Amino acid sequence: MSQLDLAQRDLLSLLDFTPAEVREIIETAVQLRANPHRYQSALAGKTLFMYFEKPSLRTRVTFETGMTQLGGHAIYYTASDGKIGERESVADVARNLERWVDGAMCRTFSHEMLQELADVASIPVINGLTDFLHPCQALADYQTLAQVKGGVAGLPGRRLVYIGDGNNVAHSLMAGGAKLGVHVTVICPPGNEPDADQLAACQKAGEETGAKIDVQNDMEAVAGADAVYTDVWASMGQEDEAAARDRVFRPYQVNQAVMDKAGEESIFMHCLPAHRGDEVTDEVADSPRSVIFQEAENRLHAQKAVMLLTMAG
Ligand code: CP
Ligand code: NVA
Repeated sequence: MSQLDLAQRDLLSLLDFTPAEVREIIETAVQLRANPHRYQSALAGKTLFMYFEKPSLRTRVTFETGMTQLGGHAIYYTASDGKIGERESVADVARNLERWVDGAMCRTFSHEMLQELADVASIPVINGLTDFLHPCQALADYQTLAQVKGGVAGLPGRRLVYIGDGNNVAHSLMAGGAKLGVHVTVICPPGNEPDADQLAACQKAGEETGAKIDVQNDMEAVAGADAVYTDVWASMGQEDEAAARDRVFRPYQVNQAVMDKAGEESIFMHCLPAHRGDEVTDEVADSPRSVIFQEAENRLHAQKAVMLLTMAG
């Protein structure tokens, strides 16, 4: 099926992949969505280790269900079972895991810790969200944008406007956009911009595909968006800052007036979970232009594609 060999690769950041490879993952996800039964033994006998330091609905359920649908098995393990790097070193955990399982998906606070695990372990390591990046989310999101806006071939030249915190989700949307030729504008309150190095790296990556990645503080920049995207104002681990962040981000709420400004062709996207009434109103989240549950569904297909391409064989 695959034209490109991604076997045994880690997926920590979309910036580690070529534009053709990112397209390949999404095209494989589209095939998996259309023909799920064709791949039901593709990972027979394989095991995925799933490690969570933070809560999850979508990531946990879609990776585990994805492994089942591909004929394999997933192990759910949380920090309360033994925090990696505390109960024993990250490197020792990596050297154990590689002798038992065929891949590891991890949701950690520290991106550096995940990088170390991936550097030591010989098996594919998949990023299920760190404080810095959420690449599987971005893959599902661009699959969704393609689904409703003219297919994968129709992605180059589209414009996604992310409104809110310059966080892990924003970083991965910028990276995915850069690789797929999708222009990404991040609109955020001053002081909440994406990481400067990540922005520069995405802008550089975008030179290859024609994608322009930029950051604005003015909500007027939403005009003409193909997709308006938002995420929570306080990410997991920032709960203590929620009240202060509420004051800063409130003017950046995605409501009907913002969608009107974006234009009638614009769809609404959110990685979920949503804090309804904060970053998005019910009116927008539940409108016909909202594709939030298609995004959630595509987590399953996009991650099955990642597992198939990195763990098969
Ligand atoms: N979007 C997302 O990653 O959801 P969960 O936190 O529920 O996994
Ligand atoms: N930025 C959010 C994304 C949740 C899927 C967080 O890190 O909590």
